[in-house]
Amino acid sequence: MRTVYLNGEYLPEDQAKVSIFDRGFLMSDGIYEVTSVLGGKLIDFDGHAVRLQRSLDALDMKHPSSKDDLLEVHRELVRRNDITDGMIYLQVTRGNPGDRDFAYPPEDTVPTVVLFTQAKPGMADSPMAKTGMKIISIEDQRWGRRDIKTVQLLYPSMGKMMAKAAGADDAWMVEDGHVTEGTSNNAYIVKGNTIVTRHLGNEILHGITRAAVLRFAREAQMKVEERPFTIVEAQSADEAFITSASTFVMPVVEIDGAAVGQGTPGPVATRLREIYLDESRKAAV
Ligand code: PDD
Repeated sequence: MRTVYLNGEYLPEDQAKVSIFDRGFLMSDGIYEVTSVLGGKLIDFDGHAVRLQRSLDALDMKHPSSKDDLLEVHRELVRRNDITDGMIYLQVTRGNPGDRDFAYPPEDTVPTVVLFTQAKPGMADSPMAKTGMKIISIEDQRWGRRDIKTVQLLYPSMGKMMAKAAGADDAWMVEDGHVTEGTSNNAYIVKGNTIVTRHLGNEILHGITRAAVLRFAREAQMKVEERPFTIVEAQSADEAFITSASTFVMPVVEIDGAAVGQGTPGPVATRLREIYLDESRKAAV
């Protein structure tokens, strides 16, 4: 049985209980982070800690603990659950005001802090990295502050179910004719030596993996264009791929039934995956 963390305590997972009045449960009033673990160490921890702070600030939520304390909780969970490869999920909600009310509760309401591990042995050797994934496009029907990493994930869940029903692996979301991002990842296309991905703004999550991958791409003399692109442009690109903490860099080989490039993972996505995994392992804490 897993050991999880709830409000300062390490508990067996079946003993960690949160109130029915918790704002996370009633209002989706909470934010989260997912940090990968490779070889028992945390990937991009600093980036996730910075974005956590940004999400908390955007929602006027208190920061429950310092970055160092948070790092220690992550490490302790890795130790207690003997995680080599996998993920750590962290969620902070506005806590339990003792009743349901739309207004934010008083300042002194204690936030709920939950962390748990998900073991994924061999996560970096996912077979999908060799075959690539098939995606469909769907309309982006989420709210307007997608830059805040809230636990409001019903539309992304619906999107993944739509993809499954269509025999695909995932979905890219489209707004005003342009791709915003994947249901739980950032979206890219490659033309020649140029990588194209949507610019940052309120329309997408500012991926931590995205920031690292674009940095590595520039260092490797690839060109990066941060601008919107369409599904038609993506279908005629040389390559496509996604990034996220849980998939790293994953090639996309089919979009709405049309093969991208040769219909197999391309050299740019494959190389970026290698660079990202190598560099992140070196910098892991
Ligand atoms: N998802 N866009 C969305 C909508 C996401 O949910 C995620 C992450 C990303 C990629 O961000 P990062 O590189 O920081 O993981 C982009 C996580 C992994 C999840 O929900 O499980």
